[in-house]
Amino acid sequence: MPCTVVVGAQWGDEGKGKIVDALSARADFVARYQGGPNAGHSVVHRGRRIVLHLVPSGVLHPGARCLLGNGVVIDLPRLREEVEGLESLGLDVSGRLGVSPGAHLILPQHRAVEAHAELGPGAIGTTGRGIGFAYRDKAARTGLRVEDLFEPARFAEQVDRNLDRLRREFPGVEALRATSGAGLLAEWRDAIAWLESRIADVSAELHRALAEGRSVLLEGAQGTLLDLDHGTYPFVTSSAASAAGAPLGVGLGPRAVDRVVGVTKAYTTRVGLGPFPAEMPEAEAAKLRAAGEEYGSTTGRPRRCGWLDLPALRYAARVNGLDELVVTKLDVLDSFEEIRVVSGYEREGRPIEGFPAGARALERCRPVWRAFPGWREPTAGARRWQDLPLRARDYLEWIERESGTRIGLVSVGAGREAQVTRD
Ligand code: IMP
Repeated sequence: MPCTVVVGAQWGDEGKGKIVDALSARADFVARYQGGPNAGHSVVHRGRRIVLHLVPSGVLHPGARCLLGNGVVIDLPRLREEVEGLESLGLDVSGRLGVSPGAHLILPQHRAVEAHAELGPGAIGTTGRGIGFAYRDKAARTGLRVEDLFEPARFAEQVDRNLDRLRREFPGVEALRATSGAGLLAEWRDAIAWLESRIADVSAELHRALAEGRSVLLEGAQGTLLDLDHGTYPFVTSSAASAAGAPLGVGLGPRAVDRVVGVTKAYTTRVGLGPFPAEMPEAEAAKLRAAGEEYGSTTGRPRRCGWLDLPALRYAARVNGLDELVVTKLDVLDSFEEIRVVSGYEREGRPIEGFPAGARALERCRPVWRAFPGWREPTAGARRWQDLPLRARDYLEWIERESGTRIGLVSVGAGREAQVTRD
């Protein structure tokens, strides 16, 4: 398919990095459309685990051009560090990276005020990367974009104006006092020069690529339930993480998208605060966390663990218009005697339809559970559907039926080869 979107169907950390890496083998272009270095996409490359924060996960395939669209927020020194880190591993990134001039910048003051805000009663449990405040400035039209870096005097002035506003709003934040636009410009001078040759008209490039019949992968970060509009607000990130954000975040029209692939774990995890009806008691979560190495790739925080939430998955299928599901980390469930799922919700003792995504409405729901017998056999070696234990197939086929979405791929381990493609 010429233009495919890969989107998280849960609260992020579904294993999109590995799937984008796999699909990138056939992609000419891979573009991130939203989010910033709050993402942590893990990919195993030549036996080594690489965590990508801003660079698209297609970068491990030498033929793929990697783009950061207008919908992304960029922390410039971190981007440069990440690219140089990849180059030090022998990957040639430089000629392949393109950054939209319309992408917004994360400034040090965004991180400083976020750290302060997270100490207060409205804490979200963010990744601490300044994401929300960068997007806040974008929406308020007080943000700085990549293109502003190349008009130094104006850039320094705008940073100062931004700082003034934040100092008035957050008089207690010490870190805002000592800094200035001129200081930031001096600190970033080398990185700005480094970035200049990597600026690209992402929208025009992708448009041309599709017109020439080349293949494009639009890589989502976070997940549907962290989407600013459709997630468990306010415990969400600040961008359009769901599939509709993809064309917007790279400058394509919605008709450009041919296929939407949703990635879900065989269970659920979440980091940060907010309701999580499918959450397990801590004793059980500890077992799953250990088996699945469920610690944040960006922050190292232990992830909250739970069973698969079917109403949430159905909701993700609807909101994203999923054509296909990829189920990851099936192997993590291999040792469980019983596999539980949330099959529906009740409110005040009565079953309810659908998934109430707003945090307050979701908090009022009680999960309805269903159990499947565990397969208690290793699945890591499976490569064809028939190789999977019957009970694992029953579980997957139930997910497929109930979510109304075909499963195209099942991942059974971290390595590239550890996957089962559906015939
Ligand atoms: P922010 O995106 O750093 O503002 O964090 C907002 C919420 O999204 C918090 O609950 C974070 O834990 C969560 N979040 C942000 N990025 C990711 C991610 O890549 N994976 C999982 N959760 C994330």
